[in-house]
Amino acid sequence: MDFKGLDILNGYQFTNQQLNHIMNTAAEYEKRVKRGEVIHDLDGCVVASLFFEPSTRTRLSFEAAINRTGARCISMADAKASSQAKGETLEDTISTVDGYVDVIVMRHPEKGAAVRAADIAVHPVINGGDGAGQHPTQALLDIYTMRKEKGHIGGQTITFLGDLKYGRTVHSLGYFMQQLGNRMIFASPDELKMPEEITADLRARGADIVETGDVREALAQSDFVYVTRVQRERFPDQESYERVKGSYIVDNELLKCAKKDITILHPLPRVDEIATEVDSYPGAAYFRQAHNGMYLRMALLGLVTGRV
Ligand code: NCD
Repeated sequence: MDFKGLDILNGYQFTNQQLNHIMNTAAEYEKRVKRGEVIHDLDGCVVASLFFEPSTRTRLSFEAAINRTGARCISMADAKASSQAKGETLEDTISTVDGYVDVIVMRHPEKGAAVRAADIAVHPVINGGDGAGQHPTQALLDIYTMRKEKGHIGGQTITFLGDLKYGRTVHSLGYFMQQLGNRMIFASPDELKMPEEITADLRARGADIVETGDVREALAQSDFVYVTRVQRERFPDQESYERVKGSYIVDNELLKCAKKDITILHPLPRVDEIATEVDSYPGAAYFRQAHNGMYLRMALLGLVTGRV
C-alpha cells in the first residue's frame, strides 16, 4: 500500500484498508519502541512542526515521533515569534518552509488552512488541527486506542459527549466510526450540536446516528464515551461560552448509569468535563490514548515519506 507523498488532511480520505494499514504500522512501531530499538527509518529526513495555535500532545508527540524515527525536526511553536507577526501570509510561509523539509506538520486556527498549505507544498502536509475543521491524526490515534482497548473495532456503540460543534476531533472521528461500522450517539447541549452538514453527510454515507440530550440513557448503551472540552477559544463571545460551560461532567456518579466495561476517551486537555476521581476507573483510557499518539504519528511519518 503506497502512502508516499500523501497529505493527511481529513477524516474521510482513507479506505478501510488504509485505516487498517496505518493502525498495523503504528502497532509495529509500538513494539519496536517498547523493545528498545533505536530506529533509523527516517534517517536523513527533516520534518517541520509548525504550530500557529497552542498544543501540548499533538506537537510533542509529533516531535517525539520525529526524533524516534530518526528524522530531524525544525519547529515553530510560537506564531508571534515568526514572520506571521509581520503580516506574512500562510501561503508564503509554507512556500518557504516547503523548500527546507521533507514533511510539514501544521496546526492552524483557520478551518481549511491545511488544505491551503497542501495545495502549495510539494511535500506532504499533515493536518494537526485546522480551527473547528478537522483533526485526522487525533482521530487515527483514537481508533488505534479503541482497537487496543477492546481487542477489535466495529459493531460497537460510541457516545460523543460535549462540544460537537467546535470540537474538530469528533468531526474527523465521526467518519471513521461510520466507515468501521460503529453506531454513534451524539449527546450535547443544544448550542453545541454536531454541525448539520457533518451529520447529514455521515447519514448519507450510511451512518447510524442518534442525537440526544439524555446522557445517562446514552451511556447505558455505549461501549465507548468520547468526551470533549467546550472549545472556549472558538466562541464568538464570553457570554455564549458562560452559558454552556460546565453543562456536562463525567464523574463516578454518572458512570453508575454506564454500561459495564465502558471505555472513556478524551483527546485532552480536559478542563472540568471529566472529574479526576474517574482517572482510576479501569476504562479511563485517555492518558493511554495520549501515549498511543506517538506510535500512530511515527507510522504516519514513516508512511508519507515512503520509508516503511
Ligand atoms: C484537541 C484539539 O486540539 O483539537 N486536542 C488535541 O489535539 N489532543 C482537543 C481540544 O483542544 O479540546
